[in-house]
Amino acid sequence: MTRQVLCSNPSCRQALSYPEEIAGQNAQCPRCGTVTPLPPPGASDSSSAARLGHYSLVRKLGEGSMGQVFEAVQDGLNRRVALKVLAPRFAGDPLYLKRFQREAQTAAALNHRHIIAAYEIGVDQGRYFFSMEYVDGETLKARLGRQSRVPPHEALRYLVQSARGLAHAWEHQVIHRDIKPANLMVTWDDTLKIADLGLAKFIARMTESTPTDIIIGTPYYMSPEQARNEDVDIRTDIYSLGATFYHLLTGEVPFKGRSPFETIVKVTTEPFTPILTLNPQVPKTFAAAVEKMMARQPSERFQDPKTLLQELDRVRAEWPSRVSASGQAADARVDTTGVPPIAAPAAPAASGPSPGRRAKSHPWRQRAVERKILEKRTALIAIGLLAAFFLLVVLVSAARGLESAEIPALAERSHFPSPPR
Ligand SMILES: Nc1ncnc2c1ncn2[C@@H]1O[C@H](COP(=O)(O)OP(=O)(O)O)[C@@H](O)[C@H]1O
Ligand SMILES: [Mg+2]
Repeated sequence: MTRQVLCSNPSCRQALSYPEEIAGQNAQCPRCGTVTPLPPPGASDSSSAARLGHYSLVRKLGEGSMGQVFEAVQDGLNRRVALKVLAPRFAGDPLYLKRFQREAQTAAALNHRHIIAAYEIGVDQGRYFFSMEYVDGETLKARLGRQSRVPPHEALRYLVQSARGLAHAWEHQVIHRDIKPANLMVTWDDTLKIADLGLAKFIARMTESTPTDIIIGTPYYMSPEQARNEDVDIRTDIYSLGATFYHLLTGEVPFKGRSPFETIVKVTTEPFTPILTLNPQVPKTFAAAVEKMMARQPSERFQDPKTLLQELDRVRAEWPSRVSASGQAADARVDTTGVPPIAAPAAPAASGPSPGRRAKSHPWRQRAVERKILEKRTALIAIGLLAAFFLLVVLVSAARGLESAEIPALAERSHFPSPPR
């Protein structure tokens, strides 16, 4: 089936025809070249630019197990948001909207620097969606796609920020249930934010009849009790956070089967390879803390995020000043400057690394640093040119002053009476 949408460029408005199969993707207007987001599959034909509720879709950001995520602009407020549009299989029972609303209210009650803020939920053309804080950055999953491991000091900083976010959620009795690298986003200025907090429970309930692996994707980070479908509490999030940081530190997931089922069996029955075996560069106390997070028995883990934070404070205090495990890095000091003091409340400036290190770790940071350097250079050249111009003006007027001062002096001199002989 062919569908139609208007080009999102207001001065073009060319009608774009596209096959149903590419709904939800982006299309380039052949007339003006503007990239226009196509309405998600299932949405009714729209003669205006892609819209959902009172949001105009700008571009598709990604796709996950629940549906597609778009960058969008909220009418009236002109606010940039991330809009998650649930896949059509989630639509149906109107009772769900009420439940969804209740869950979203819980999520919206959370207000923390390390949690992506939930704004509102809605339904339009039979599609459920919710809007949330737009994060200008990337997920730790994307980061792992570029870099097989994250340096231990950076991992510690992200773990502290994640634990702070979870501690806030837990104060409101909210648990995540789906902590994984794809649900931890890092902004361009290195602030970690937890995504989808408070929503996994709703999704799980909504899809009671759907096989688990379809909903949660591959269960690499799932706690044993969750894999066994038992009652869970905050300690399931502590486990999943541990499994996520195991992956960041070692470059490998703790358990990997050939199918989701086999992975689940391994999660519940097998031991994982010790972190130091896979990466001896990780400080011992840090590796031990992450492994404790992943204890099979919930009672053997840190019991809540605050206790975890206390341990991470100790890890930070005992951080070795030298990387000793490999000869090549024998002289490299482990930089913990970016690791904020854990006992203190989230300190905005303290959580970021130096611009130099940022440039190395993320391409967009590299670009930001390069832009700053360019701006500084341009400013310096402008100041230099201005100074040279003033100098020139001063020199010219000084020369003129000299000329006009010399002429009368010479003239005067010529009228001097000749000295008596
Ligand atoms: N708040 C947000 N701001 C910016 N991008 C986001 C946001 N939430 C999700 N994304 C992007 O959309 C992608 C899909 O997200 P999501 O549907 O939550 O996937 P998953 O099911 O794997 O968690 C993410 O990988 C990320 O790139
Ligand atoms: Mg997500």
